[in-house]
Amino acid sequence: MSRQFQFREALVEKSAGQFSDCVVANGRVATIAGGDVPYGLIDNGAIAIESGRISWIGKKSELPDSYDSFLIHDLGGRVVTPALIDCHTHIVYGGNRAREFEMRLEGASYEDISKAGGGIVSTVAATRAAREEDLLAAALPRVDRLISEGVSTLEIKSGYGLDAETEARMLRVARRIAEAHPVRVKTTFLGAHALPQEFAGRPDDFIRMVCDEALPKAVGEGLVDAVDAFCEGIAFTPDQVAKVFEVARGLDIPVKIHAEQLSNIGGTEMAAGFSALSSDHLEHLDEAGVRAMAGAGVVAVLLPGAFYTLRETKVPPIDLLRANGVPIAIATDCNPGSSPVTSLLLILNMACTLFHMTPEEALTGVTRNAAKALGLQADLGEIAVGKIADLAVWDIAHPAELSYNIGLNPLHMRIWQGIAA
Ligand code: NIG
Ligand code: FE
Repeated sequence: MSRQFQFREALVEKSAGQFSDCVVANGRVATIAGGDVPYGLIDNGAIAIESGRISWIGKKSELPDSYDSFLIHDLGGRVVTPALIDCHTHIVYGGNRAREFEMRLEGASYEDISKAGGGIVSTVAATRAAREEDLLAAALPRVDRLISEGVSTLEIKSGYGLDAETEARMLRVARRIAEAHPVRVKTTFLGAHALPQEFAGRPDDFIRMVCDEALPKAVGEGLVDAVDAFCEGIAFTPDQVAKVFEVARGLDIPVKIHAEQLSNIGGTEMAAGFSALSSDHLEHLDEAGVRAMAGAGVVAVLLPGAFYTLRETKVPPIDLLRANGVPIAIATDCNPGSSPVTSLLLILNMACTLFHMTPEEALTGVTRNAAKALGLQADLGEIAVGKIADLAVWDIAHPAELSYNIGLNPLHMRIWQGIAA
């Protein structure tokens, strides 16, 4: 049975018996289904939901008689979009890095701090010291903040354990988040995130431990939906990351990569060779990397929260990505160091203001393209017949307002698998 299929079955099982069949009507429906109409907008639209999936969509005036017996929710002209998807987070971690924030304000760079044993490695110490319950309690308010802004699905990475036991603990917490709260979680094993102190000077030995011990353990416990790695001068080389990706390929697990964030060492091209779901950050991506992504169907996940926090000045090559038809997603990158952000709506604004994306591109980046970055495009990301009925209803008149406002949360109602939640 394929992993995708297992995931779909699990979704249905989780909410069995709770689905209510209904029609949501009289909204401005931003389907984000592509095509020539901006946002795929349908005015005075109606969406029929049966067994948690969308069974009909169109003008309310054209709703078939067969839906006459369905409960109708009147949206009063509000905007309805696909529920939002945060496709790149490190939301499970111990401690925080407020002191490092102060150091950066005093002039230290992200790389200086990392080389001095701070940065990711300091979060590793706090995470290793935390019990599963503590990690869960710390993560849930952050997750709830995302849910309150219409997020239905998020990706959660490990990567602050850097040993087999703590990496698995982080991913168990990620799974427990989806059991505790109405949100869908895709887990990503990020064992090759940084070199822990006990492996100082021995990166190849560490990669061997990740490949032989940490990744197989997490996979064995059913905790891994995808495998990621940080390919960077302060992290791992393309060759080292490729070793981890070979193991993932052997286990039939899709890969993604943190690449071209601080420099270009060719991580994206290497990952394209493994048909990666996505390559993320990409400020320093060059044309060869863009072409490799286009050729292999890799989604570009841009992370304006990290760009902003690190005061990066090099903008990802948006025009090249557009020209080559590479789908662009955006995400919070929620993490304690480079992006302590728990607002996906703020990220929409940052994508427009900092990266010159259009509000339509930004919204597509947290719906259709975010679903693709997680391999969930068959089920999520658009309002279309057959997709899971994950919707967000907003107290706004036009979808561009989602990107335009700063600090306003206009969510009116979130529909998760066909039920208001
Ligand atoms: O996506 N780039 C590497 N990893 C994270 C940062 C993690 C941290 O600083 O704790 C990121 O930005
Ligand atoms: Fe990240």
